Amino acid sequence: MKFSNSLFMHSPVDNKLPIRKTLEKEYSDYTSYIEDAYKFGQSHVFGWWSEITPSEKKSLLDQISSINFLLIKKLFNDAVLKTTQPRQGILIPPQVIAVPKHDTEKEIAERAKQIGENSLRKGEVAILTVAGGDGTRLGISGPKGTFPIAPISKKSIFQLHAEKIIAVQKRYNTRIPWYIMTSKNNDSATQNFFKSHKFFGLDSQQVCFFTQGMLPVVDLNGNLLMDSKSNIIMSPNGHGGVLVALKEKGILSDMKSRGIKNIFYHQIDNVLIKIADPIFIGYHVKDEAEISLKVVKKCHPEEKVGIVVYIDGHLHMIEYSELSRKDMYAKIEDGTLKYNAGNIAVHMIDIGFLEKVYQMEESLPYHAAMKKVPCLGEDGGMIDPKENNAIKFESFIFDILRYVKKSVIMEVLREDEFSPLKNMKGENSPASTRQDMINLFGRWLQNIGVSIPTDSHGNVMGLIEINPCFALDQEELRNKVDRYFQFHGNLSL
Ligand code: UTP
Repeated sequence: MKFSNSLFMHSPVDNKLPIRKTLEKEYSDYTSYIEDAYKFGQSHVFGWWSEITPSEKKSLLDQISSINFLLIKKLFNDAVLKTTQPRQGILIPPQVIAVPKHDTEKEIAERAKQIGENSLRKGEVAILTVAGGDGTRLGISGPKGTFPIAPISKKSIFQLHAEKIIAVQKRYNTRIPWYIMTSKNNDSATQNFFKSHKFFGLDSQQVCFFTQGMLPVVDLNGNLLMDSKSNIIMSPNGHGGVLVALKEKGILSDMKSRGIKNIFYHQIDNVLIKIADPIFIGYHVKDEAEISLKVVKKCHPEEKVGIVVYIDGHLHMIEYSELSRKDMYAKIEDGTLKYNAGNIAVHMIDIGFLEKVYQMEESLPYHAAMKKVPCLGEDGGMIDPKENNAIKFESFIFDILRYVKKSVIMEVLREDEFSPLKNMKGENSPASTRQDMINLFGRWLQNIGVSIPTDSHGNVMGLIEINPCFALDQEELRNKVDRYFQFHGNLSL
């Protein structure tokens, strides 16, 4: 991390600072917060006080009152001084339930499926979608879930997930509550999108939105950044923020009051997600696991995916950047990678386990990430940085794994279940995720016996889209389409 001179150090902004005592007298309700801003060296946020309107003043003070200045100072110091210890300990690959190949493995999976189906029928499972991220890499103006992703209909990611939930509900004659975590930056846009699309056919009562916490973004000297004369830049506190939000927003109690025992957790951007997969639920329930994880095999040793391992007897997800070259390339006898369980952020979470974690921890640790963030310069004009100028602090859901004593780790095929939308171009882009959807539908049809042309990369030539309410999986499709079906390059079912 490279630290440069602050944007605001010795800046002319200081000359414009209102006298602290006047400020405190005028806004006595905010005295302690104003004091904190000064005490922690963040008084530059009042630099344009004389230029902003009374309502802007109020909104700036409200923002200031939501900031834990002590925490920000600590997080910044940790980031600068790198007080977090590098990971130590011996890595052990976890036991993974492999994708079933033989009959006995298939029978075991089938038994798990029945348990999962039972749990779904009894209404014990809720869906939790984390959709609070800013989606900076994708760079669209609205929430990522609103992105028109389906190959032919161009329906949104939210609609895709909603229709899968509807299809699962129909299949198991059940009702599945859907909890969606948003952030202050995208909550109203998300809720309005659902309203304007009539909740995609779901009952509005079963969809529950809640917001995660926000943290200020700081420059490379720890100063809060602003993007207008009255607004401090805040960003969502990471998907790990879901832990605190579930409790603080009363979501966990709501789940319990509805008889929910386990949460199916996933991220908004995985367009191939098998929502409420009964096999996964079944393994989790059967083994009384606290948290279960779906993993995929790494594509190659240097793939930038976090891997699931045991360290000193505790389950961990470690980032590719934390893996030594030796471990990255380590192989077992059959020539496959030793550390090969790539995390795809699909989990089952036992509610009782979460309650136990709350007794041990208030929140998960924060990680610092360097970013390029457009912000206000000292002259009051916007700066569009060419290099990293800012630090964001985020907590990660997988840090909860260290508390887990019982878990199920289930391997799934990447091409069937994992294709996240992250970027506008190249890998994990609209083009690649759409192709992944088309290829999945193409494989379903091929497996039924329908002839589907593919190119030299194995990509289906043409467009296919299958509505989850028509067929949620290959087996359902088999009942509706026969092998004599002719594909003419564009198929919407
Ligand atoms: P990413 O880390 O990929 O972030 O989030 P992102 O916001 O989608 O994209 P970038 O990094 O800004 O380009 C993975 C998942 O976690 C959610 C995202 O919405 C996505 O579903 N998330 C991330 C949150 O819910 N809150 C956060 O604070 C961060």
